[in-house]
Amino acid sequence: MQSRTPHVVLGEISKTFKSSATLAVDSVSLEVFKGESVTLLGPSGCGKTTTLRMIAGLERADTGMISIGRNIVFDARTHIDLPPERRNAGMVFQSYAIWPHMSVAENVAFPLNARRIAAADIRERVIRALETVGLEGFGERPATRLSGGQQQRVAFARALVHEPEVLLLDEPLSNLDVKLREQMQIELKSLQTQQGWTVINVTHDQTEALGISDRIFILNKGRIEQGGAPRELYERPRTKFVRDFLGKVVSLTGSVKGLFNGAVLVSLRCAPDLVWTCTPGDSGPFAPGDDVEVSIRPEAVTTRAGTDTQPVHGKVLTALYQGDRTLCEAASGGEKILCYLPGGLLPATGEDLTLHLPASAMQVWSR
Ligand SMILES: Nc1ncnc2c1ncn2[C@@H]1O[C@H](COP(=O)(O)OP(=O)(O)OP(=O)(O)O)[C@@H](O)[C@H]1O
Ligand SMILES: [Mg+2]
Repeated sequence: MQSRTPHVVLGEISKTFKSSATLAVDSVSLEVFKGESVTLLGPSGCGKTTTLRMIAGLERADTGMISIGRNIVFDARTHIDLPPERRNAGMVFQSYAIWPHMSVAENVAFPLNARRIAAADIRERVIRALETVGLEGFGERPATRLSGGQQQRVAFARALVHEPEVLLLDEPLSNLDVKLREQMQIELKSLQTQQGWTVINVTHDQTEALGISDRIFILNKGRIEQGGAPRELYERPRTKFVRDFLGKVVSLTGSVKGLFNGAVLVSLRCAPDLVWTCTPGDSGPFAPGDDVEVSIRPEAVTTRAGTDTQPVHGKVLTALYQGDRTLCEAASGGEKILCYLPGGLLPATGEDLTLHLPASAMQVWSR
């Protein structure tokens, strides 16, 4: 089990690239605990790679402090700036960065050679690292005579071989096809928990982030918008950016009917006579009579009534059969509701459909 010792700490790190006058990372602070898998998630250009490269020592921060394990590896004020090889971090790049003129074993051994370790010890550690990633027996093969997935494993073995305090992963799975990527996500998650690795992962694939992370930090324009457990972020986003970035959302027009104990009582334009007691998404303020946005995830919309649901009546616009389920878009009171119907249910366009919306899955946002 992970203990609650901060293992990697970023204290207000910022970076401006002079050449492009871009504030790439804007005062990012976070703590990663030992044995924890944390993901930096956000759209292209939000500063994920730059943050990771600053931790690795491949990019120099302008301000702030970084510590790994017991060591302060960077501190702008005291001018501490350890080179990458003294930071005890293992990094895997999106491009793999495998050396084509070397064998698999030579590639994996590379970080150890730079660390002056005895040859016998190197051999043993390389074998162990290759075993960990499922490449036992591949040591003598030229690194180029491997599939993309196998090359990625070599990159992982090379990052692991010196038993780093932290693994820094920059979209290592993004070049793999969908099936292999899913399989690698499962392997990575299971290895990470078994071996107790501390991992900082970077991706713009929200499904991958939700699956493999203990915590996710959503980055937007170089700043952390929200950090927390995947479920917390998905179900209780605090900004519309976080909400919309993490999957699909149904957005409905509502009107505030009252306030009660921190909850907002709303009716919907598509069901004006009913009232749902919802959680606020942003901080409002909300007053009776206000027009608001009410959001719900499509999979929370059901065809069966539950304890805290109320019905909305609509007509089917489009239904897409997906095998295990049917993706359906319905129209109700001039609004569109996206939902999933159980597999086997394939309604025709124009068919009446009653959908049940649970108040517990709805959030109210100011317009
Ligand atoms: N070497 C550089 N010189 C100038 N600007 C840079 C450099 N590297 C990154 N940037 C800029 O800094 C910002 C953040 O880039 P970064 O590579 O960290 O984004 P990212 O979140 O990793 O994006 P992606 O998902 O596309 O990989 C971008 O606006 C980018 O153009
Ligand atoms: Mg990047």
